[in-house]
Amino acid sequence: MINTKTKLLGLLGNPLEHSFSPVMHNEAYKKNNMNYLYLPIEVEEGNIEEVLNGIKHMNFIGLNVTIPYKIKIMEYLDEIDPLAEKIGSVNTVKIKNKKLIGYNTDGIGLLKSLEKDSKVKVRENRFLILGAGGASRSIAMTLADKGAKNIVIANRTINKAKSLSEEVNDKSKKCCNYIDINDIENVIKETDIIINTTSLGMYPKIENCPMDTGLLNKNHLVSDIIYNPIKTKLLIEAEKKGCKIQNGLGMLVNQGAEAFKIWTEEEAPVKDMEEVINNLILKE
Ligand code: ATR
Repeated sequence: MINTKTKLLGLLGNPLEHSFSPVMHNEAYKKNNMNYLYLPIEVEEGNIEEVLNGIKHMNFIGLNVTIPYKIKIMEYLDEIDPLAEKIGSVNTVKIKNKKLIGYNTDGIGLLKSLEKDSKVKVRENRFLILGAGGASRSIAMTLADKGAKNIVIANRTINKAKSLSEEVNDKSKKCCNYIDINDIENVIKETDIIINTTSLGMYPKIENCPMDTGLLNKNHLVSDIIYNPIKTKLLIEAEKKGCKIQNGLGMLVNQGAEAFKIWTEEEAPVKDMEEVINNLILKE
């Protein structure tokens, strides 16, 4: 029941019609009788400041932020958490005493899903990240921040991989290197976990694959942050090679669960969030 005690949450972005987050949060709250309401807030860029000013004076305790405002939002925040500052973007805002505090849970969401589903210990692993865009930034910076043994960023445009790698080394642990995405063969033997952050293989171009899967073996864990399709060409081929695989649903659920923890300082109903998402995907 929505009443005067209902705490409000929201997703700020534009457009929002494809987002799973409102349903994932609301259904999980309902199942657990938690008095929270998560609203989609589709905003034009010129109106962000006004919307934030309004929200501060309402019952809102936090927001998620998505495309295209993850960088823009930073102008309006009172404080930014050090990891989000290093990443250079914000996907979660906590509202406390009329102050807006920015966080980024994208990388930590992926890391949590690796820890939970595949018992990964970040400090013991060598990561190969395919792609050097926004998602790669969050993941590389988070893994370095949490003490990854080694990270290699592989990208088609090598200059982007170089500058991201240098930034990770400057701001965090000096554990990062870069290569051309066509030269993966040179580093695959020193890789434990491969993470695809490129859009290759995403619906509708599901035949695309970001790497030569002939290079994989059963010791590799392959994680794709794509969840449409739920098993990309990369994951299908990796599975055939005996690799352990993970799709992007874990990151989606866990970035939301980590945001919930920041907003409420309580554990999120992760299992229910997962179930809601799985049911939604099955229906698609
Ligand atoms: P996101 O914010 O989701 O990470 P992005 O910033 O647009 O998205 O980054 C997309 C990534 O996918 C980039 O690393 C991009 O490579 P380039 O930097 O060379 O553009 C990669 N990518 C997209 N299409 C690709 C393709 N056809 N082949 C190889 N890499 C591709």
